[in-house]
Amino acid sequence: MKSDEILRRISELKEEKNAVILAHNYARAEVQDNADLVGDSFALSQAAVDLDADMIVFAGVHFMAESAYILSPQKTVLLPDADAGCPMADMVTVEALREAKKQYPDAAVVCYVNSSAAVKAESDVCCTSANAKEVVAAIEENEILFVPDKNLGHYISTLTDKKIHFWNGFCPIHQQITEFDVLTAKAKHPSAVFLAHPECRPEVLKHADGIFSTAGIIKYAAAADEKEFIIGTEQEMMHKLMKDSPNKSFYPVSKYAYCSTMKMATLPAILNALETGNTKITVPEDIRVKAKKSLDRMLAAVP
Ligand code: 13P
Ligand code: SF4
Repeated sequence: MKSDEILRRISELKEEKNAVILAHNYARAEVQDNADLVGDSFALSQAAVDLDADMIVFAGVHFMAESAYILSPQKTVLLPDADAGCPMADMVTVEALREAKKQYPDAAVVCYVNSSAAVKAESDVCCTSANAKEVVAAIEENEILFVPDKNLGHYISTLTDKKIHFWNGFCPIHQQITEFDVLTAKAKHPSAVFLAHPECRPEVLKHADGIFSTAGIIKYAAAADEKEFIIGTEQEMMHKLMKDSPNKSFYPVSKYAYCSTMKMATLPAILNALETGNTKITVPEDIRVKAKKSLDRMLAAVP
């Protein structure tokens, strides 16, 4: 099928089913251009609650679709490719978390939204990269077990006096960005501002002029007076950055920062999801209710 025919069918089916397409900032450029909302994990979670729709097609990864269902179970949530997972989310299991909780009985468990519903259910509160600092400040405990991202955990530990125990998880895409990559890019573009995602290693973040979620990076670059930026995150971000700020220059810090599971939601896969209702993402009700408490606490901490 030709791409204009695919787009025409998508738009017909969206209307017929009262569906919306939510796309993460790492989704394919052509998917972002045809989505109802493009954003970071936090904005997409909020949209799942706020949008008046019967169906959400998630151009993102599994934990995002799961979060949408947890927050809004009356909506049908579809993930165009059921294999679109997040390797970092798989780095913490409920069993391992229960063991760690025994080791740190006084610690509150703060769980990055990049985690399974079952892990969220086992945690006290969730956070995203956009609100981790505020969430950690808002909870009353002074001791925290932060799962699964050790890099985000480390970054937050530099912003609080609270004691943080790190998990040994990481995003393989951000983990492979090295300090050498940053120094090389800075040498090549000496006037550029370096903006990085907090999933990067500490030795990368120490060179950053700004550390933000994906939406935060886009917002900062659009508002800044500077004209050149080195971008320390997944490379599809270039699309929205250039679209929002066409008169500015953006240089990816690494050409290898590519999240392949974020690209599984192609336009034909989205059309297939709308036509077939596959793959429907749900969570067992007992887990959903507990996981929702962790997400609700996050949303309450950052109104
Ligand atoms: P944010 O868009 O929330 O910054 O998250 C980045 C990410 O890696 C999502 O998987
Ligand atoms: Fe997971 Fe990293 Fe891909 Fe985000 S970019 S979905 S954290 S693997």
